[in-house]
Amino acid sequence: MTKKIVVFTGAGVSAESGLGTFRDTEGIWARFRIEDVCTPEAWQKDPEKCVEFYNMRRRETLAAEPNLAHTAIARLQEVFPDTQVITQNIDNLHERAGSRNVLHLHGEITKLRSQKNVHDLIDLDGREQHYGDLHPDGSILRPHIVFFGEDVPNFPLACEIASQADIMIVVGTSLNVYPAASLLMYAPAHAEIYLIDPKEPNLTYYADRIGHIPAPATEGVPALVEALIEQYS
Ligand code: APR
Repeated sequence: MTKKIVVFTGAGVSAESGLGTFRDTEGIWARFRIEDVCTPEAWQKDPEKCVEFYNMRRRETLAAEPNLAHTAIARLQEVFPDTQVITQNIDNLHERAGSRNVLHLHGEITKLRSQKNVHDLIDLDGREQHYGDLHPDGSILRPHIVFFGEDVPNFPLACEIASQADIMIVVGTSLNVYPAASLLMYAPAHAEIYLIDPKEPNLTYYADRIGHIPAPATEGVPALVEALIEQYS
């Protein structure tokens, strides 16, 4: 019976591709205020500032390349077809590394969405957003990003996926942001949970259940993937 593997990633998996994390020193939230660019109030107050912030992050994403962690995760899906990627990241590096079945919890930088329907998306195809462009439904398009304080529409599906895991691999997240961070609690009691991060994040609730691999993603993920392929394929 093939193993169901869930890979849950945060900004750390893309750090070695040159994309910033949020809470490390010099992180994104040390350089920009969340209240200015990533809340519904910010969008109401100064939407053009929000658009420019995400245009900047989109330019960085399109200039970045997937790293060895992204490609190792894609290889895992080749060997274990049930592997599901759940990411907090808005970049498209998992997809560009070849991963299928990527569920984004906090949105996608390559897409905009209607303000009438959170699921009604359009793909920017590498273009920049110009504030004021309209969705066909007449609403002003906004970045397809879940702002702080907004619902996380894909979270229920993510919980369903996590509850089926035989193995959960957590990569590059400080587990600071909820509900995403609570995903680990949905892994069944029998599941093996590995966490790859040079630093030990806050594991209060899960410390006894998690195997922490204190390594950068481009070292820890390929090594773990090869070990799992060796052991279970
Ligand atoms: N390899 C693996 N992990 C790394 C690396 C690396 N090379 N570099 C940094 N890390 C780790 C850090 O030690 C930290 O634990 O990645 C984690 C990044 O944590 P955060 O910056 O808090 O990012 P993340 O957990 O993804 O944030 C969650 O917060 O701001 C919101 O929506 C945003 O999705 C984001 C959410």
